Amino acid sequence: MVSYGEFPGARPRRLRTTPAMRRLVAETRLDAAELILPAFVREGISEPQAISSMPGVYQHTRDSLRKAAVEAATAGVGGIMLFGVPEVKDAVGSQGTEPDGILQLAIRDVVEEVGDALVVMSDLCLDEYTDHGHCGVLDAEGRVDNDATLERYAEMAQVQADAGVHVVGPSGMMDGQVGVVRDALDEIGRQDVAILAYTVKYASAYFGPFREAVNSSLKGDRKTYQQDPANFRESMRELALDLAEGADMVMVKPALPYLDVLRKVADTVDVPVAAYQISGEYAMVEAAAANGWIDRERAIMEALTSIRRAGANMILTYWATEVAQRL
Ligand code: PBG
Repeated sequence: MVSYGEFPGARPRRLRTTPAMRRLVAETRLDAAELILPAFVREGISEPQAISSMPGVYQHTRDSLRKAAVEAATAGVGGIMLFGVPEVKDAVGSQGTEPDGILQLAIRDVVEEVGDALVVMSDLCLDEYTDHGHCGVLDAEGRVDNDATLERYAEMAQVQADAGVHVVGPSGMMDGQVGVVRDALDEIGRQDVAILAYTVKYASAYFGPFREAVNSSLKGDRKTYQQDPANFRESMRELALDLAEGADMVMVKPALPYLDVLRKVADTVDVPVAAYQISGEYAMVEAAAANGWIDRERAIMEALTSIRRAGANMILTYWATEVAQRL
């Protein structure tokens, strides 16, 4: 360790004197290219629908999604993560594997519109499509059936790849999901489609607003498949498994309450690391700002900078376009 002397000679405040000085010595910078915009597209609507718990975020029509994608690309955003909200839900999430299901149509639209400028990603999970709202199919006792769910995920991966997606994001936290998705893609000759694995995903209260965003009918919780917020070591195990199964990129989610885990993952792996600033993280800032209790723009930039500082290479954020425009 180099010695920097002692007060009064040593004065760290000298490097905080002016905006220009602070800008010069900043250790962490945000770049629009590393932001990913999560976006919802809903079947059967003719106007975008506001999501009350996420002011400024919409369930898009196919048309308004195209516009949002163009806006993001023009702002320099790096990627878009698409979520489909079908009109009809059932026990096995049939719409998730229909070639003309809403997500598959949206993938085609967005790839056609901005596929050269944005990396197009899709959520690979059943909760948007099931009438019970779980991320998988249920067994006779009503428990989430891991291996039966994997078969559905394999099919989903193939229809999403057929629609032209660049990256799939398996997010259901089933054991073995990354390996099964990799095999399913390779089987149809789609070695080029990458996997962004939701590797570390906690059973979080901060997912609350997302339930409204996808019209979820979930009763109960996801604690038998998502991780216990109390655990840290378990995340390292999930990480090792996902890498062994072929994850190209890994994700930590939620972001802000789990920066310790993010730091550890970023220090451990040699693949790109994403963090997802989720719906509840968004809603808290928007709600406090709407009440005049917090400086909205500063709070957004501070949270994103902290996630970046903790080691994320990429950040999924509902503010991606706005922030990219500001950068
Ligand atoms: C699962 C999925 C969820 C989110 C992303 N993918 C919901 C969940 O796991 O409960 C949450 C994203 C957010 O809250 O912003 N399809």
